[in-house]
Amino acid sequence: MLTIALSKGRILQQVLPLLKKAGLEIADEELNSRKLIFDTNISDVKIIVIRATDVPVFVQHGAADIGIAGKDVLLEHGSQGIFELLDLKIAKCKLMLAAASAEKLEQNTLKVATKYVNSAKQYFQQQGQSCEIIKLYGAMELAPTLGLAHCIVDLVDSGNTLKANGLEAFEHISDISSRLVVNAAAFKTKNSQIKTWVNAIAAVI
Ligand code: ATP
Ligand code: PRP
Repeated sequence: MLTIALSKGRILQQVLPLLKKAGLEIADEELNSRKLIFDTNISDVKIIVIRATDVPVFVQHGAADIGIAGKDVLLEHGSQGIFELLDLKIAKCKLMLAAASAEKLEQNTLKVATKYVNSAKQYFQQQGQSCEIIKLYGAMELAPTLGLAHCIVDLVDSGNTLKANGLEAFEHISDISSRLVVNAAAFKTKNSQIKTWVNAIAAVI
């Protein structure tokens, strides 16, 4: 049995058509049911659909053999026990530092609101900038407006959310897209089964 973990939401909408082209699909009645583990058209492949941040957790511990998640989530989680095999080139965006103005970034200790605590800490450490990280789970763009932080580290695609909230992007921290990852142990024990699907997916990217 091979278990594939997919991120709910934005990535799921883009990854299902890709998997279908690679020969793997979930029937609509399965997807629309309250089941949490879905049968596919392939009898020995199951799919689970979970919160994006939970995907690397399931894969690291071998509860899922393969996972598909954003690079943002993977960077934040760390790569222990996980191999990244493919860039699916979907759900593309950038992890950026944004603020209302350049002056707001001129602080001895910069207050940074973000969901990406580890990536932000690593970035400011590399820059030699002292910072205080304020962990948020969403709506980061509100933090500078309401004086919670001097700036944010968040994902930017069109830039519309920044603009609508009076913010501007100042630094590009990393390029983000969805990646296919595998459990390191399963990559040995289920190598041919995993490779078959990785090759099939790689062929349709
Ligand atoms: P959750 O609510 O479960 O914590 P989320 O709200 O971050 O997750 P989505 O908005 O569906 O979930 O985003 C999932 C992934 O899609 C992110 O981890 C990132 O890789 C990518 N992503 C997020 N925002 C954008 C965007 N504006 N444009 C393109 N890709 C994005
Ligand atoms: C993401 C991200 C930004 C926005 C950027 O939020 O956190 O707020 O997209 O996209 P843009 O540059 O095209 O405006 P999302 O829409 O996923 O909402 P969430 O933060 O509630 O998950």
